[in-house]
Amino acid sequence: MGGRRPKEQNKARPAPMHLLDTYSVDLGLLERILEEAKSFTEVLTRPVPHVPALKGKTVATAFFEPSTRTRLSFELAAKRLSADVISFTAKSSSTEKGESLKDTILTLVAMGADCVVLRHSASGAAALASRWASVPVINAGDGMHQHPTQALADALTILDHKGRIRGLQVAIVGDILHSRVARSGIWLLSRLGAEVVCVGPPPLLPPEPEGWPCRFSHDLDGTLPGADVVMLLRLQMERGAGASLSSLEEYRELYGLTSERLPLLQEGALVMHPGPVNRGVEIDSEVLDSDIAVVCDQVEAGSAVRMAALYVLCSEHQAE
Ligand code: CP
Repeated sequence: MGGRRPKEQNKARPAPMHLLDTYSVDLGLLERILEEAKSFTEVLTRPVPHVPALKGKTVATAFFEPSTRTRLSFELAAKRLSADVISFTAKSSSTEKGESLKDTILTLVAMGADCVVLRHSASGAAALASRWASVPVINAGDGMHQHPTQALADALTILDHKGRIRGLQVAIVGDILHSRVARSGIWLLSRLGAEVVCVGPPPLLPPEPEGWPCRFSHDLDGTLPGADVVMLLRLQMERGAGASLSSLEEYRELYGLTSERLPLLQEGALVMHPGPVNRGVEIDSEVLDSDIAVVCDQVEAGSAVRMAALYVLCSEHQAE
């Protein structure tokens, strides 16, 4: 798609910085976002939780896949930074008429977006978008690949509760194979010094796990006593998780964090879940609603992390 571009885009500008994953992105950038998120956590406690940090900027959220937490928290984060928000959802857009991802991204940038937040069902979509966009792209979840701001929100939640990540044992339990949250968390938490163990039935663990910076196990009961943090994952039926299981009841029996398993947890262990949750499958309602589950804290941390990610990437791009 050619034609006129806003004047600013015609200037020769260095390539923008993107947040696409947790394995190739400079660890210093991820740590800086975590540090900034701590400051924004304080902003969010104020009676008027707004700062003028991105006044005059425009953030575009482009969601080609459903989302509750990520889309709303990015939009709220942008508004709390005083940015304007343009919000795109595929179902009510010209995607329905066949418009491509590339033309959608170019259109959002031509409208003046200073940052594009993208969710897409295709693994690698955010990396593609970053080739076409002249502004920072934040990956808000691409297929089974990555969801870096969820991993950062989870890391901030652990830091808030435990004061550190280095040396902790984090068990990620469930549908690892289809989970971008697992892939993002494994890389971020291990780079920050945690020992990560992934637990699940053989069909829901990666077939070629070489190179993943974690251990794998099929034994939940053997893993729980050593874990400082237990993160449950949803079975991703939309990506075929159910086809490889004999029944949801058997899955719950073997891999669910049931009330009966609570005595296996160590004192002070955190129970996490990125959401959305299938109550009664990967986690019992009694566990989810108990004090050891910090799911709402993860959502709160998500707001601060997304403010930080938008602030860091947009201000870096402006400074260049
Ligand atoms: N955790 C997460 O990405 O949730 P949503 O799909 O609701 O954004």
